[in-house]
Amino acid sequence: MKSILEGRPALEKEVGQIAEVAGYLWQNGWAERNGGNITVNITELIDDETRSLPAISEVKAIGEILPHLKGKYFYCKGTGKRMRDLARRPMENGSVIRILDDCASYVIIADNPVQPTSELPSHLAVHNRLIEKGSNYKATVHTHPIELIAMSHNKAFMGKDVLTKILWSMIPETIAFCPLGLGIAPYALPGSVELAKATLKELEEYDVVLWEKHGVFAKGLDVMDAFDQIDVLSKSAKIYLDAKCMGFEPDGMTEEQMKELSEVFHLPK
Ligand code: 13P
Ligand code: ZN
Repeated sequence: MKSILEGRPALEKEVGQIAEVAGYLWQNGWAERNGGNITVNITELIDDETRSLPAISEVKAIGEILPHLKGKYFYCKGTGKRMRDLARRPMENGSVIRILDDCASYVIIADNPVQPTSELPSHLAVHNRLIEKGSNYKATVHTHPIELIAMSHNKAFMGKDVLTKILWSMIPETIAFCPLGLGIAPYALPGSVELAKATLKELEEYDVVLWEKHGVFAKGLDVMDAFDQIDVLSKSAKIYLDAKCMGFEPDGMTEEQMKELSEVFHLPK
């Protein structure tokens, strides 16, 4: 069977980057079994021939009406599929979907009828908002970073910007490369519209949101950009935990040092 990637180098490159990041998620220990999901808005990479490809699935409901997604195309990780498998075979562990004109349903068009991730409501709600805002962000990533999830089990960390301040103060790079910090979404059922709504709300202000006792969800220009932001936050969480394991509370950088960094890097907060 011919893959949609054949003869479409730009699409092949994009899917290659998704596979590369899927490998990093697995290598980092953030992607046990089928844990985590990736979706990317690939509409710009879709040619007329692809637009005329027939559906290879029945029409499936999204569960929400997302008016800005009409006629858009997404690569989606398959539900129940493993990141470590997707890293090697992205078109067997994910699929390309087309959003139908009712903005409430979709069909799969390639390569195989792999059912998209159970977190599709969160991913598509965020893409809908990004398009509405005219943003050039194209990728959303959900994953299960161990240390950040561990920290989310402490209620004291779940207040607004409490974790952001701790994580920023662990190493100068974190505020520089994750300048908006980390939003917090209270625990909600995985795959639920409630979780999607909380994610959407937090992503108005942040690029990365911590799903309490579950994982993180990030948006980015592309999948590598979304991964990088999670990676720097996770690095800070590891440093915090390592200090605690050595038996002391880390000092963190001082307010003055943080202020100096913000000025030098022209950061928004
Ligand atoms: P999927 O296998 O449906 O993508 O779910 C994984 C996950 O992490 C749910 O939160
Ligand atoms: Zn998850």
